[in-house]
Amino acid sequence: GGRIEISELLGSREINAKVTLKGWVRTKRGNKNVAFIALNDGSTINNIQVVADVASFDEALLRDVTTGACIRVDGILVESPGSEQPVEVHAEKIEIYGKADPETYPLQKKGHSLEYLREIAHLRPRTNTFGAVFRVRHAMAYAIHKYFNDRGFYYLHTPIITGSDAEGAGAMFEVTTLDVGNPPRTEDGAVDYSQDFFGRRCNLTVSGQLEGELGAMALSKIYTFGPTFRAENSNTPRHLAEFWMIEPEMAFYELEDDMELAEDFLKYLIRYALDNCMEDLRFLEKMYDEGLVERLRSVTESSFVRLDYTGAIEILKGSGRKFEFPVEWGSDLQSEHERYLVEQHFKKPVILIDYPKEIKAFYMKLNDDGKTVRAMDVLFPKIGEIIGGSQREDDYDKLVGRMRDFDINEEDMWWYLDTRRFGSAPHSGFGLGFERLLLFVTGMANIRDVIPFPRTPNNAGF
Ligand code: 4AD
Ligand code: MG
Repeated sequence: GGRIEISELLGSREINAKVTLKGWVRTKRGNKNVAFIALNDGSTINNIQVVADVASFDEALLRDVTTGACIRVDGILVESPGSEQPVEVHAEKIEIYGKADPETYPLQKKGHSLEYLREIAHLRPRTNTFGAVFRVRHAMAYAIHKYFNDRGFYYLHTPIITGSDAEGAGAMFEVTTLDVGNPPRTEDGAVDYSQDFFGRRCNLTVSGQLEGELGAMALSKIYTFGPTFRAENSNTPRHLAEFWMIEPEMAFYELEDDMELAEDFLKYLIRYALDNCMEDLRFLEKMYDEGLVERLRSVTESSFVRLDYTGAIEILKGSGRKFEFPVEWGSDLQSEHERYLVEQHFKKPVILIDYPKEIKAFYMKLNDDGKTVRAMDVLFPKIGEIIGGSQREDDYDKLVGRMRDFDINEEDMWWYLDTRRFGSAPHSGFGLGFERLLLFVTGMANIRDVIPFPRTPNNAGF
């Protein structure tokens, strides 16, 4: 039968209405006369208090109303005499859908550590914390589609299985139907991938960008939003082996346009969270990250610093700081450097451009100096790199030259090179790590806590 969701019930507050609620018991307390049941159905961070007169219920039934049990309650909405909540429900009938044996149910009344909850990822959505995080995650996914749809971008589905290594980083998960323990071999002893299902060597995508570029060269403005995979052995609070990435790609955009879009997009998403997820954000702030809401507001109101790599190196060298990784022109920036620039030096988000060509991907447009490329990284407080992007090399000969520098096989990339051979155009794009965005918006400290089922080294799940 029909039920009212707790979020709607708390919003309407129609006193004396007959209501039916369905949800999971968070806690039960009380005495021999009355039981107070805190019920949650995932529609809001707030529980509704259900009050049951012990005398009106079967004793065995009430005994089974324990933390974790799923129940149906029929009752009357009344004003609450207590100050903790404005309304409560006087139960007339309770039905138990599923018991949860208190001896073995892994979630107890008392709070649990995030580390413990990671070990029970199948049950942690039932906690206040993960309810809040996953509601915010949903809101951000929706806002991303809304942002692009409202601005004439098309959602392009790029493949998960691919033969290309977009980032040239080599950190790929191979996909094969060959017997990996005893694969067929060619005469010279190499694995014979022609006998694979796909007839060639394949991997899980590290980025939808290269295929996204094909879309932009026809539809003008596209974006991808899907899972991407990196087999890098990074056991950090900011890396996952499987993460979601949003990659807009735009024909006729130069680097300046790309930067403007990135800044506007991030501010829109954060504003959307402030406008639509405040109860969850306030809860997360109270539990994990003092100053969260103020930090989010300040980013929506600031204008991001724009600086070139060479300038950043000068600031870092002049800082007098002892970094774990020393900085020299040409070295890749580590998260300690990025966070110094954002958190100590500028105290607001920074867009860094024009990186040395050696430390960036082959597809980035070469600057006239011959040494740097039109790359941009957006750096955020508490996160470091949240976006990586660039203007793309649109000149066929220069692109081939860059591929040779990186030892990339031109024949394998014929389809990509065709975009530069036929109707090439200036174009740009970027990739936003969805979980990095969520780390920033929710204030959670570990990327494992903003994705329902994290995949990291030594954790493939159940
Ligand atoms: O900087 P990356 O590697 O850039 C690309 O993949 C480009 N093809 C994007 C583009 O221009 N279309 O990754 C982009 C973003 C990073 O800034 C970071 O936010 C996130 O993806 N990211 C990760 N997030 C979680 N775990 C990992 N292992 C990540 N690697 C990158
Ligand atoms: Mg990057």
